[in-house]
Formats: sequence, C-alpha cells, structure tokens
Amino acid sequence: ADGTVEIPVVFNVIYNTSTQNVSDARLQSQIDILNQDYAGTNSNIGNTPAEFVPVKAGDTKIRFRLAKTVRKQSSVTSWNPDENKMKSATTGIAATSPDNYLNIWIVNNMTGGTLGYAYYPGTISAALDGVVLAAPYVGTGSGTSAPYNLGRTATHEVGHYLNLPHLWGSTDTGCQTDYSNDTPVSPGPNYGVPTYPLNRVCGGVSRSQIFMNYMDYVDDKAMCMFTANQKQRMQAVVAASGPRSGLRL
Ligand code: ARG
Ligand code: ZN
Ligand code: CA
Repeated sequence: ADGTVEIPVVFNVIYNTSTQNVSDARLQSQIDILNQDYAGTNSNIGNTPAEFVPVKAGDTKIRFRLAKTVRKQSSVTSWNPDENKMKSATTGIAATSPDNYLNIWIVNNMTGGTLGYAYYPGTISAALDGVVLAAPYVGTGSGTSAPYNLGRTATHEVGHYLNLPHLWGSTDTGCQTDYSNDTPVSPGPNYGVPTYPLNRVCGGVSRSQIFMNYMDYVDDKAMCMFTANQKQRMQAVVAASGPRSGLRL
C-alpha cells in the first residue's frame, strides 16, 4: 500500500568443501542486512556526514524475502566470473524463474579475488540474470572474511542489479556520470576506511566525495547509505512499468 516492493530471493549455494556450504543462519543474516541497508535502518546510518544528510535516501521502499535455498556440491575450486558456469544445471545450479526471483549464486571462490558481480536490468539473458557472491563475503558471523564481513557486497551488487552504476560511472575510466545528480562526480574507487572530507578532482574541479555510499569500494563498515536519486533509479526498475516489474509479489 505504501509502495514497498518485497523482492523474493533464491540462494543457489555451490560449495566445494563443507565449510563453504554457507549456513541457513548466515543466509538469513544476509537477508536481514539487505533489509536494513535498503530501509536505511542500518546501525551505522548515522555515519553519513552532515553534508550528505540532505541527499540520503532514507527508506528505498525495497525489501527482500528468502524464498528458497538450493544447495549443490561441486569439485570446482575457483570460478571465472566471465564464464557464468555456476548458472548452468550441469556445471552449477540453474536459475529459478529469473523474472520473478532475484537469484543469488554463492560460490566458494572467484578468480582475481572478485567479491561479487551482477548485471544491470535488460543486459543479459534471463538464465544468467542475478547476482553472484563469493562465500566469505555472504552475510555476517563465523566464516566471513574482514573487511568485507558485514554483508555489504550483496548490498552493492543488488544496487547494480537495480540499475546503479559505480559512483565514477559504468566505465573504468572514471569521472563519468552515474545518472544520479546527488552523488558528486568521482574519478574512481575508494578503498579501506577513508576520512571525511575526501576531495578528489574530475575535469579540474575538486569535489567532496560521497565515499560512504554503497556504490563505492570502501570496506563494509565504511559504507552506510544510498541517495535519493539512487532510490529513484531503483524504484523505476521495480515499478509496474519497469524492467524488473516481475519481482513484485
Ligand atoms: N564489485 C566489487 C568487487 O567485486 C564489490 C565491491 C563490494 N564492496 C564491499 N565493501 N563489499 O570487487
Ligand atoms: Zn560494483
Ligand atoms: Ca553523480
């Protein structure tokens, strides 16, 4: 009634060793983190600097519900993100109705130490649509790996899935638009736990960076917010007229 959309999530867990078979408790912790981050009720939301408080999204009116968990053992010890082999019934687990469920594949390990990846709406075949996460970065608690141990790789990747580019734009060159006017232009990713204010230059203009936004690359504990424009972009995706309208219950 208030326009909130609850996205049903299918976890496809493909593990090599049994410790990589992420527990139900951790999967639920990941759902809880997504719900807090997308509601703006995360415990560190108050870390938003006063400069950026006016552009905070608050509640994005997007929520997540654990619909189903599928598990499978595999002899593969490292997965190449470009191949999407974890999404095939023979080499992995086939997606469940990708138009109606957000499929999240969890693999033991990815080449290059990739934490996760996702596709923008309408850019990949339905069978390959969704989010992939490496197991150590799923949820929180025992078995997760600092500094990416607060479940925010999923928050970030679901942002991509809902049409949010990185703060520096969708190319690696940096200083490109992210289609949100309330995020300052950025030359590229920030890592670790930056100190505010952090000024960086694009086109000869220095701007205070919104590095605590979920669409940067900082440590999980250093991220805390989406902006109002980012909320607008995500809402447009799940709206009845949007490319992911099938996700509504
Ligand atoms: N796309 C990035 C990667 O795969 C994920 C960055 C997530 N950042 C985080 N703090 N969890 O490397
Ligand atoms: Zn990203
Ligand atoms: Ca921007």
